[in-house]
Formats: sequence, C-alpha cells, structure tokens
Amino acid sequence: DPPLPPPRHTGQIPESTWTLGLREMTEPWKGAVGCLGVAVFFAMTIGIISWQALEQSPEEWVLRGRDAGMLWERGRGALLLRALPAGRPVLAIAVGSVPATEPPPPRDRCWHDGGQFCYSWEEDAELRLSLEPPAAPGTECYGVRWTPLRPDVTLKDCFSMANVSWYGGPSVRAQRWPLNGAESPAQPLVSGNLGTNPDGFGPVLERYFLGSTGVTVTVAPEVPLLLSLESHRQFCLETPAGRAEPLHYQLCVGGNPSTRPAGCPKHLTRNFPPCRSPIWRYHGPEASAAKIKRGLRSLVRRLKRHRLQEGVVALGERGTAILAATDLVPSERRKRQAPALVEPLELSITLSPYAGVTSPLFLRSLRGGEAAGYWLSRQPRPGGSSIPLLTTWKGQLCARLNVTSEAALGWYLARARRLRQALGASYVVFEGVEGNSFLEQDVPAPAELAGDGYTEVLVAALATLGNGTVISAGTR
Ligand SMILES: *[C@@H]1O[C@H](CO)[C@@H](O)[C@H](O)[C@H]1NC(C)=O
Ligand SMILES: *[C@@H]1O[C@H](CO)[C@@H](O)[C@H](O)[C@H]1NC(C)=O
Ligand SMILES: *[C@@H]1O[C@H](CO)[C@@H](O)[C@H](O)[C@H]1NC(C)=O
Repeated sequence: DPPLPPPRHTGQIPESTWTLGLREMTEPWKGAVGCLGVAVFFAMTIGIISWQALEQSPEEWVLRGRDAGMLWERGRGALLLRALPAGRPVLAIAVGSVPATEPPPPRDRCWHDGGQFCYSWEEDAELRLSLEPPAAPGTECYGVRWTPLRPDVTLKDCFSMANVSWYGGPSVRAQRWPLNGAESPAQPLVSGNLGTNPDGFGPVLERYFLGSTGVTVTVAPEVPLLLSLESHRQFCLETPAGRAEPLHYQLCVGGNPSTRPAGCPKHLTRNFPPCRSPIWRYHGPEASAAKIKRGLRSLVRRLKRHRLQEGVVALGERGTAILAATDLVPSERRKRQAPALVEPLELSITLSPYAGVTSPLFLRSLRGGEAAGYWLSRQPRPGGSSIPLLTTWKGQLCARLNVTSEAALGWYLARARRLRQALGASYVVFEGVEGNSFLEQDVPAPAELAGDGYTEVLVAALATLGNGTVISAGTR
C-alpha cells in the first residue's frame, strides 16, 4: 500500500494555498481601501477649499469688543459695526478712500495688541481701529483713524442711512427731523451764517451724529472736515483735498439697547426718542383723516409683522393738520380711543407756526374768529389796517404766528397741547421755527423780531411744552 500522505500535510497545502490566495486577495483590497481613503481625503480637502471659497462669509471680524464689534465687508468694502451677542446691525460705513473691494481680506498687523486692528492699502492709506475708553458708562467706543500715505489722497467715509434715522450734525436752513431728508454738497463742517449763505450749514454746536440704532459718531473739533448729505442714502465725512490730513472719529454704541439709552450725549434728555428707538416716517395716503388713520394702522401692522414693535411713527405736518381738522373736538370717547392709533408704537406729530392762506384755520381767523390778529403783519400806516405778512413755507403762501402777541402764543401752545392729547401723540415736532420773515420779504422788522428774535421767543415758549417736544431750528 502506498503510504498515505499524512492527513495533516494534505490539509496543509490547500490551507496554505488558501492563505496565499487570501493574501493575494487582501493586498488589492487594502490598496483599494487606501486609494479610496486618499481620494476621499482629497475630495474633502478640495470640497472644503471650494466650500470656503464659495461660502466664505462676506463679513470678517476685525475688532471685537465686549458688547459690539467691527467687521469688514468684502465686496462692497465697508466697515460694519454690530452689537453682540446677536450681531444686530448698528452702522455701515462705506469706505471711499481706498480701492477697498480689491485688497485681500484685511489682516491684523497690530497682532501684538488685541485692542487694535491695522491695515494699510499700499501707498493709499492706513486704517487703524482701536477700542477706546467709553464716553459714558454702559457704552463701548471705537476709534477710527485713517492716515493718508500720499499727499493727494482724500479720505472719505460714508455712513449709511438704511434703517437708521440720524440726528445731530449742523443746522441747515430747513431743518428736518431726522436729518435723513437733508441734502447738501460737501462743505466744511463749521458754523456758518444761514442769513448770508442759506445753502450752507448753520451753527454746529458739537460735531456728533446720533443714529437711531444707538450709535454716535463724534469728530473732535480740531479735525478739518467736510460733510456732505445725500438724502435718504448716506452722509459722508471727508478730509479737505490736497492737505494729507488724517480722518479721525469715534464711534460709540450702547451695550444693551433695550435697557439703556445708548450713547446719548449728556445734554440730550434720556427721553430723546432716537436714543431708544427708530423713527418710522409715515408716507402713506393723506387724502383724509380716515385714510391717514387706516394708513397708520397698516404701517403699524407691517412693523409688527417684522417684529419692529418698538419705535416712533412720525406723521408729517400735512397729515397732522388733516387729523387736527377733524380730531380737535375733545370728547371723552376720543380721548380714550386716541392712544390706540399706533400702539404699541409711539406717535409723533408735526406742527409749524405757519398757516396756509387757504387753510380753514387761517380763513376762520380772517372772519374774526378766535385767531384773528394772531399772525405777523406789516406795520400799519397811521390810520390803516394791518395786513398779514405772507411768506412761503413748503411751497405754499402762508401767514406766520405772531409770537410777540401773548394771546397768539397762548392760543398756539394750548392748541399744541390739545392736539397732542387728542391724537395720543408722545412727541410734537416743531418745524419752521427758524428764519426771519421780515428779512426775507425785505420789510423792516419790529425791534423785538430783529435778527433771530422770532426763533428765540418761539423756542422759549415751546420749551414749556415739556419733554415730548422736539424743536429743531437753525439760527445764524
Ligand atoms: C433694513 O431692514 C429691512 C427689514 O428689517 C431688511 O430687510 C433690510 O435688509 C435692511 N437693510 C439694510 C441695509 O440693513
Ligand atoms: C404782534 O402782536 C402784538 C400784540 O398784539 C402787536 O403789538 C404787534 O404789532 C404784532 N407784531 C406784528 C409784527 O404783527
Ligand atoms: C415726560 O415725562 C413724564 C413724567 O416726567 C413721563 O410720564 C412721560 O412719559 C414723559 N414723556 C415722554 C415722551 O417721554
């Protein structure tokens, strides 16, 4: 009998073959897995890079404070101020002095100091942002300093008016509240004479601008500066051309807008509305009182829908006059109803010392009503009767309140109080307080109304109306 191979051996060969086979099968599998891994790694890397390139946030933090921070917006080249923690937009500054959309995202060159950020646009200008000691408790302040690196660079920063109502700045001839509606070419931000230069700026008490988002822009008095106003778009601060002056200003923002009036200059009362809330101007239909009321209610509904329930709804002079004509009958029912007009927002109405010659108010007064003789008049010749001095206001021929008549002034203030109560208004804005109607008409003014006498008398009287009174007047 041929010896049988030992069973162990026979078993061994296929086993080893099998092992070999397995090994042969294993190697490509491992290789494939390896290749796949590398491929996935590459794919992920490429994916992440391209995702970063595509999805990279257009905004980048450049300086972060405790309550707010500044960001750089690529693309349009703008500095943004946002309040933390939610990133509520506070301010957008379009940077006009450097090719801001071209450069790489700004890198922090002041890396040794967390309270600063610097970036320099080669041979154009250098930007330095710094956290500064707060102007008032509860605020956070940032210094913005542009330094030109060539003598012919003009530095210009423009502050957006989108969703921000602005106050402050210089007085202008037809003062508006807020200043978003004002328009002016670039001119020095210094006190001027509105009498000799009606298109210029009037007094500049302090060089600050106050935004309804709680931000203030303050410029030191020694910085030479031009200001331009582009209505409803932006206002711009720029340095005089060819003088290689730095552009330096300070931004302050309040920590928590819901509890603190942010960055309100001390001399403004805490009740000054923009220190707390935005102003929504009513631009709806004004054909009748009913239409205005419906329009106001629909504006409030829209604001509520966008969760903008805090703020002031501002009704202009025309709308106020139309409501006044129907709503001045005080009745208990009305008094109770009135505050609902724009609730939960607050209402601001607008008055001026002018009455159109076709207005019921003026016509009634001509017929010897309550307001007879309440208007400025030309000095009558001996034996003649006085003739109202007519001036134009907002394109209409108007009579103007005689503020040196105590009876007229008392009647006017009482009317303002009554109207404020009947309409449930929190604020009364007075327009058209400035100007000398006699000078404008080339008529000799009585001694008490010479110069800015009219404005002084009227402002003193209006101030007695209390904290909800807003007077903006430019004097010489
Ligand atoms: C202004 O506010 C509206 C409504 O909240 C918003 O849709 C819009 O983007 C804002 N505009 C700017 C420039 O922030
Ligand atoms: C204003 O009213 C006072 C008092 O009635 C009157 O003496 C004065 O002449 C009036 N002034 C003008 C400019 O009409
Ligand atoms: C004005 O002051 C009174 C009391 O001093 C206050 O009740 C009222 O709310 C204030 N008005 C405004 C508009 O802030």
